[in-house]
Amino acid sequence: MAFQLTVNGRSSTVDVPADMPLLWVIRDVLKLKGTKYGCGIGQCGACTVHLNGKAVRSCQTPVSAAAQAPITTLEGLSADGTHPVQVAWLEIDVPQCGYCQAGQMMSAAALLAKTPKPTDQDINSAMNGNLCRCGTYVRIRQAIHKASEIATTSKLKKPSEVAVGQGVAQE
Ligand code: FES
Ligand code: FES
Repeated sequence: MAFQLTVNGRSSTVDVPADMPLLWVIRDVLKLKGTKYGCGIGQCGACTVHLNGKAVRSCQTPVSAAAQAPITTLEGLSADGTHPVQVAWLEIDVPQCGYCQAGQMMSAAALLAKTPKPTDQDINSAMNGNLCRCGTYVRIRQAIHKASEIATTSKLKKPSEVAVGQGVAQE
């Protein structure tokens, strides 16, 4: 079946089964490798993308449910690495092995778009389903606060204002 998807501002037609998880389409059909496969059962958050601005688990989202709404992956967070979450993640040096981090950043970006100045409790609630086997949770929380600060005090665009674009795919 053919589905029209808009991923990171680009329109594509994909011919795949209606129940194929969006994660497979993103990685294997569209070849955007930033989004990661972790558990495949909605329990880890590694596959998080934005669907219509909301963080969703792409391993649990059939492509048929994603055809009518804009999709943003890690590659589309910004065209040039200047999304406040990207800047803060680098500044705080958050990742260890890195595997969970695309999902962490997408959940963080969705949180900040909705709640520009999140409390620790807001962060705990929003990030609860994103697991990190390396235990980077403290740095993730610091980086979210830093991203909030960057977005509100610098000339960088606020998370909710960032236009999606096509970046470099990550293996
Ligand atoms: S791979 Fe989707 S939640 Fe783990
Ligand atoms: S940085 Fe290794 S799993 Fe999170």
